[in-house]
Amino acid sequence: MKTDFLVVGSGIAGLNFALNAAKYGNVTVVTKKEIVESNTNLAQGGIAAVTRKEDSVKLHIEDTLKVGSGLSNKHIVEILAEKGSEAIQNLLSFGVNFDKENDELHLTTEGGHSIARVLHSGDTTGKEIEHTMTERIHENRNTQVFENCFAIDLLLNNTECVGAKILDIKKREVIDIFARATILATGGIGYIYKNTTNPEIATGDGIAMALRAGAKIEDMEFVQFHPTTLNKPDAPHFLISEALRGEGAILVNEKGERFMEEYDRMGELAPRDIISRTLFNELKKGSVYLDIRHKGERFILERFPMIHQECLKYGIDITADLIPVSPAAHYICGGIKTNEYGETTLANLLAFGECACTEVHGANRLASNSLLESVVFSSLGAKKTKNYLKNKIEAPPQQKETALSNVDNQELKDIRAELRAAMWNYVGILRNEKNLSLMLRKLEQLNRRLDALGGNGVNTRFLELKNMITVSRLVAKAAHTRKESRGTHYREDYPDTDDKNWLKHICLEQRKEKLHTYFC
Ligand code: SIN
Repeated sequence: MKTDFLVVGSGIAGLNFALNAAKYGNVTVVTKKEIVESNTNLAQGGIAAVTRKEDSVKLHIEDTLKVGSGLSNKHIVEILAEKGSEAIQNLLSFGVNFDKENDELHLTTEGGHSIARVLHSGDTTGKEIEHTMTERIHENRNTQVFENCFAIDLLLNNTECVGAKILDIKKREVIDIFARATILATGGIGYIYKNTTNPEIATGDGIAMALRAGAKIEDMEFVQFHPTTLNKPDAPHFLISEALRGEGAILVNEKGERFMEEYDRMGELAPRDIISRTLFNELKKGSVYLDIRHKGERFILERFPMIHQECLKYGIDITADLIPVSPAAHYICGGIKTNEYGETTLANLLAFGECACTEVHGANRLASNSLLESVVFSSLGAKKTKNYLKNKIEAPPQQKETALSNVDNQELKDIRAELRAAMWNYVGILRNEKNLSLMLRKLEQLNRRLDALGGNGVNTRFLELKNMITVSRLVAKAAHTRKESRGTHYREDYPDTDDKNWLKHICLEQRKEKLHTYFC
């Protein structure tokens, strides 16, 4: 099959690219579940952008750079902040509804922002964006969507990307889709951790595929842990949005005492890495709770209806009860290295959103900058797509045959559980040499066990696990290499930030089956 633009992934970055690129050519979107199933759909807090005169692009740039802890690319951050209001107009033009107050867009705040600048749609901002964009995609005559289609690998003609090999899960068929440009918008990697806010689909497929194809991967040690997720036995680590703290919720210990101000003068609105580490340590002494009761039932039900409903399922009424919380893996700041147009180091391969690394986040991400990043850079990339229309769609001379086999057994589940537990224990919020070395050895072992199961068996569980092991290795390798603490990456054995030696990015590339690590 042939298409002008092949988009892998159906979150905000993929759909925004598709809608904008459809002006120039036909777009095929493939997604491994249903179109709305994405990390975007779960985003609660909102999207940061300068939309009021009390705020300024300069301030948004300063806040982003400060949280990025020296590794954000200033030029890219400037583009992000400058194009913020245009991105919001773009979303409004699709029909996205953000909350309003007195005819103005309502703004809230989150950690690291020096002023309220986060637009939101109740506490289900991502869902509103995802559903609206999905409607526009279905109306668009230049776009088609293939659901339940898993991208196995990129297709290469020498060093050029010419499409992707896709498993149609329901038909159990492998098809090659050839394209003038291929776009990865596959989201994050959170599911490699036992405790995560991410859904099961966040297995790092795009990053793993890009690595195998020879693209450059960067900043993988910077995994952001969200400080406040529901902490109840047998309940998932459901995100308790930072917007609660933005609206005045406080963190207390078992004795009901507030403690955050002892650690950072921004208190509950300090950057996420600081709060996550503090909570991680406090939790060794006893439970930690988020308390929003003082805001009153009416406000809470109006502003956080979904979180209220979700917590009720686990016996917590947030209008009357304290919410037990703990940190969990949330967002990868690194990914496939791109420029501001989404161009990777591989010809005709673009990447946007969480799987990409524009260097906008550096060592830590300012809350609610991720939805903005997805819209800004995928819009910029789509404007350049005319250039790709001159590419011929060509099948490479030789394609490896893919065997179909069904590997889905207890051993697969055991390997996945062991991987996720080990990543949490050894490459989590606090890291050290001993645990990171242990993890790197464990990953080799897990990989051998997986290979023994079925070679190139093609089913999603198997392929996802292969990708999870690959991206876990990238995170562990980069974390092992960086011998300092910066942003989200904290080394107990190197607790200080060392600008003299470490103000640089760690890049990873696979060359002839070997993983190369270098600085850039
Ligand atoms: C949240 O609502 O706390 C998450 C928002 C984000 O990760 O930017």
